[in-house]
Amino acid sequence: MKYYLTTPIYYVNAAPHIGHAYTTIAADTIKRWKRMQGFDVILATGTDEHGQKIERAAAAADKTPQQFTDIISGEFGEQWRVLGLDIDRFQRTTAENHVAQVQDLFRRCLANGFIYKGSYSGQYCVFDELYVNDAKPGDPCPECGRTTETVSEENFYFKLSAFQQKLLDLYEKQPDFILPETRRNEVLAFVKKGLSDLSISRTTIKWGVPVPNEEKHVFYVWFDALTTYMSAVAGEKLWPADLHLIGKEIVRFHAIYWPAFLMAAGLPLPKRIFAHGWLLFENDKMSKSRGNIVRATPIHKVLGTDALRYFLLREVVFGQDGSFSYDALVGRYNSDLANGLGNLASRTLAMINQYRGGVVPASDGNQQIAQNALECTAVAIEAYDRFEFSKALEAIWSMIAAVDKYIVDQAPWKLAKGGDTEAKRLDEVLYTAAEALRIITALLGPVLPESAAKIWMQLGCPVPLDHIKTAALHWGHLKGGQILGPVSGVFPRADAKASIEQMMELEKLEVARQLELLGKKPQPAAAAATVAGTPPITIDDFVKVDLRVGIVKDAAVVKGSDKLLHLHVDIGETQPRSIVAGIALAYKPEALVGRRVVIVANLAPRKLRGIESQGMIVAASRDGDVPVLASFLEDVPIGARLK
Ligand code: MSP
Repeated sequence: MKYYLTTPIYYVNAAPHIGHAYTTIAADTIKRWKRMQGFDVILATGTDEHGQKIERAAAAADKTPQQFTDIISGEFGEQWRVLGLDIDRFQRTTAENHVAQVQDLFRRCLANGFIYKGSYSGQYCVFDELYVNDAKPGDPCPECGRTTETVSEENFYFKLSAFQQKLLDLYEKQPDFILPETRRNEVLAFVKKGLSDLSISRTTIKWGVPVPNEEKHVFYVWFDALTTYMSAVAGEKLWPADLHLIGKEIVRFHAIYWPAFLMAAGLPLPKRIFAHGWLLFENDKMSKSRGNIVRATPIHKVLGTDALRYFLLREVVFGQDGSFSYDALVGRYNSDLANGLGNLASRTLAMINQYRGGVVPASDGNQQIAQNALECTAVAIEAYDRFEFSKALEAIWSMIAAVDKYIVDQAPWKLAKGGDTEAKRLDEVLYTAAEALRIITALLGPVLPESAAKIWMQLGCPVPLDHIKTAALHWGHLKGGQILGPVSGVFPRADAKASIEQMMELEKLEVARQLELLGKKPQPAAAAATVAGTPPITIDDFVKVDLRVGIVKDAAVVKGSDKLLHLHVDIGETQPRSIVAGIALAYKPEALVGRRVVIVANLAPRKLRGIESQGMIVAASRDGDVPVLASFLEDVPIGARLK
């Protein structure tokens, strides 16, 4: 039976980091797990290469869009190869087969009466590729807070409004269409409010898939991007996908637009969408502008890819946000992999070598440990099936702890010195440890493919690990007489300080390499003194802007928006100001409380998503980056004016 799963296709405006690796590693783990269950699994990923954001990133790097996308797309492909991820299809949106697929989807929707020509005149957010219907020139995007641009264009509209009930029926009939539950509820609430028709073409952009017979138009990036899931397996009878694995910020596109496009085209729908949480770096969302991006290659070089895989899947509850830090990574590596699994493997194999000449003795094994293995295996299988990786790993580690304790209690080193009765008991201990290790290793194959395969070979198992199915997980599958392979340590202990320094050093080299790849050099400070295209202003102009220091009293996510936060900021007035800011991608609300910020205090109040915003928070960002709040190194009183 086939199982077709996908990752999002990644934007090529930035090189891959561990946020992207997180999704792709999770997808690779699911692939390996499904394969163990007997499915023929196909994993597709790729790169999202069209749109204005990419066009501008290419121009900033002095490259044509094609040159630029070739380089970054290549980086993604190379990243997955280096990390040993088992990718079957790598689909680029600039590939010819994809262009044909997008045009075919359009023709089908058009033929079925779900597309019409219209026009739009108003504000547009380049970053979100989004029309901002009620905005005025100069207004910020309600999603990300970046200044919108004025556009006027003719476009094709998709009748999304016709799909409200059909989508609600779909979510009802297939309650597991969107997982986890929290995401499903968000989508339900959004769709229930009603859906507006969606513009699916642009005439202001050139870098895109052309609309058939309409020279001026290219497709809106999401109409183009989502179709990749079909073009990646065109002509292979693999559609519909069994699973789209995505990050939580793109649920709406996958759970609303995508099924609506497919329904309109009369095509089968994907079976499930699972949205995981964000990977934060020391509690902040990773971003290029914050300079807190972590790349996977340095970790791969110092601790190995399995250390990263284990950390991401054990430390972060899949579906929720979680933090990455080098300290926590090395901590987990040493405690769980070097001391836990590595130690159990090396002591078990060393004892079989020492006491039984490298041959696993015949025995039924200890019944309590057998029972424990049965229970832990059941928990791990169920958890893997629900993509609850941390729970599966917890169960496997509880089995490691039980076997460790059993070995210590039995003291095989003492039994080895006894007579026949002790020899029989020693056989039982060695068999028990080896059989438990075999089951543990097999269960860990999806998460730790490289190291589990090594332990598997050291155990002398005849069938390669990636051919093993869940049926082989039962106690007693290991036969006495199995001869161990050559034994060597799998997880050498890491010196925390030295390995962190090494990873950080390699990170710098990796950044420099990526810059060089795009022909960029770090900008000299002087370059910031003049900004091309900005007209000069007088001091009188500047003093018109009342910039004040304030302190954030409280902060909360604005309902229905991924990017907006609602804050109350005290600037020394009788009441704190209510401010809506497009910074949710960069900051968690709780991290802002008590923080000093700069606000524009004399900006005319306006409503964003129905909430009055009495000012604007000052933040910096480059095109395509998330905002970084202006702040001070020294103490500064509340209400102080910036001048
Ligand atoms: N191109 C769109 C997706 C189109 S799919 C038809 C896009 N690309 S992206 O490059 O921004 O990648 C988004 C995905 O990368 C997220 O949905 C998530 O899977 C992964 N992640 C990127 N940064 C991440 C974190 N910091 N944490 C977790 N996942 C992250 O959106």
